[in-house]
Amino acid sequence: MLVKLPNNETKEILTLWMEGSDVKMINQKLLPYKFEIYTAKTYQDTAKAIKNMTVRGAGAIGVAGAYGIAQACLTAPKKDINSFLKHVKKAEKTLKNTRPTAVNLFHDIDRVLAKLNISLPPEKNEKIMIEEAKKIAEESIISGKKIGENGESLIKNGAKIMTHCNAGALAFVDWGSALAPIRLAHRNKKSIIVYVNETRPRSQGAKLTSWELLQEDIPHIIIPDTAAGYYISRKEIDLIIIGADRIAANGDTANKIGTYTLAILAKENNIPFYVAAPLSTFDLKTTNGKAIPIEQRSETEITHIWGLLEKNKKIEKIRITPKNSPAKNPAFDITPAKYITTFITEKTLINPPFEKTIKETLKN
Ligand code: MRU
Repeated sequence: MLVKLPNNETKEILTLWMEGSDVKMINQKLLPYKFEIYTAKTYQDTAKAIKNMTVRGAGAIGVAGAYGIAQACLTAPKKDINSFLKHVKKAEKTLKNTRPTAVNLFHDIDRVLAKLNISLPPEKNEKIMIEEAKKIAEESIISGKKIGENGESLIKNGAKIMTHCNAGALAFVDWGSALAPIRLAHRNKKSIIVYVNETRPRSQGAKLTSWELLQEDIPHIIIPDTAAGYYISRKEIDLIIIGADRIAANGDTANKIGTYTLAILAKENNIPFYVAAPLSTFDLKTTNGKAIPIEQRSETEITHIWGLLEKNKKIEKIRITPKNSPAKNPAFDITPAKYITTFITEKTLINPPFEKTIKETLKN
């Protein structure tokens, strides 16, 4: 993605990449206040970065997981294949035990592990598995660009587009899913405006999507989540595009909490509701949305907010709720397939009936 430097020049930078045995990533916990690269030196560091959301978004955590396995291969004992295997399996457990909802994490880790061949020596496995992790990252960039190309045709000149959370380059290695068609429409000189839902409690919309759109001067406006119905009912929104963390075989879709509400608003007000996602987000093993595990995150994301203190420009956490009021924090919800107009993938646009079309698209 293009990132504006302090001198106002722009630079192409990926959300994460591997350098030697380090995994480098944009520290998303510090955006939009500070642009900093975090270095994960070990697979344990990478697992922590996924869990505490230094890196976040389904596509980005998938690649981080794959890189984590690559890091484990580098530190694994090489004296025999069994001790190599034991070390890598331990890393698999640690990395998979970070965030449960986005299937890309499991998909990408399993893809690297599928390259493991116990009849080969550890050094050979190490090389093959690191190559596979890097290939996954490269493919993620290509699929993001293709999602952009396939989805751009759905955006008319003058469109007012609503999005939720951050399904941008920051949620992948580059390009993004929901933001890829938007990015391309803007680069193709279409006049558009993006309504960015704040996305409480962690405010990925207000903090990250706004930051990403600013890097390319894409016109946007941040609105409270609670104002979505107001704008949609006044016919001020032409379409909604969101990303996904896991799409079941029947098209039911897990995405950031609040997505379900938006989908119903879209249906009620007759506007298209698009889900942009790479094929690696489809999970045919999960038959419907009820079977998707929903991550429950810490209460403190509700009871406190992080922000920049105006008086000393320090990033601080402040309490916003009474001390004795409990809170609950489901991180995702399920949007039933019936509310989804079209899936935008790197291969094609998938239209209903999803039970049939999803299977067909993934098979061919
Ligand atoms: O909790 P997060 O910030 O990882 O959640 C991210 C989202 O819900 C995105 O919308 C989703 O990952 C789709 S984009 C890859």
